[in-house]
Amino acid sequence: MVNMMIDGKSVQAKEGSNCLQKIRDLRIDMPTLCYHEELIPFGACRLCTVEVKANGKWKLTTACDLPVKQGLEIKTASEKAVEARKLAAELLYYQYPTTPAVLDIARKLGVDVAPGAGDGHDCILCGLCTRTCKEIVGVCALTFQDRGLGRDVENPQIAFIADNCIGCGSCAYVCPTGYVKMESLDDKRLIWNKVFKMAACDVCGRYFAPVEQLAYISRTTGVPMARLSTCVSCR
Ligand code: SF4
Ligand code: FES
Repeated sequence: MVNMMIDGKSVQAKEGSNCLQKIRDLRIDMPTLCYHEELIPFGACRLCTVEVKANGKWKLTTACDLPVKQGLEIKTASEKAVEARKLAAELLYYQYPTTPAVLDIARKLGVDVAPGAGDGHDCILCGLCTRTCKEIVGVCALTFQDRGLGRDVENPQIAFIADNCIGCGSCAYVCPTGYVKMESLDDKRLIWNKVFKMAACDVCGRYFAPVEQLAYISRTTGVPMARLSTCVSCR
């Protein structure tokens, strides 16, 4: 454990852990759109901007990808930090003015948001789906085609590699905006325009997982397919 300062308070934190998590542990509210504690930080939304003291000077930086180290000093509520987070929310709002997840955060951070609820489901390029697919599921069915300048926000550049997808639906679960749609009908699941055949539970008969996902689990864990034929409730 090392000592650091957050908003003038001395706190202890694990060296190398991320500062956003420590800030949240202190119950300081910091809504974000691209952070997930199980994933490698991506620094896309900039909603976690804080001021940090480096070489004697204060500068703005994102907290989610800032590692804790001895003597670090952070200000979360300074005028500059609050303004920077509001600006990040404002930019998101201008790009995605009808997406509820964006509107909620923009309102919270003091952006002048037009009245009424949005019903958009834009992809905000937060990267939660691509990182979940790669880092947690381990199949790499989603990647950013082009992460450089000129990303076309009208037409999100997430490449779907159908051959790699096992239909697990983790991307739909983690997507903060509802852009990733997953539909189920009887023994079929549709996601990213790929149709998956669902396996029925041997005990209750309920369709519970895509056959491709079970085959993937069997392949990677060595558990025979026959032992994966019951749903969680019937096990
Ligand atoms: S599809 Fe959803 S999770 Fe993936 S980058 Fe877009 S908003 Fe984020
Ligand atoms: S949560 Fe830190 S940049 Fe999005």
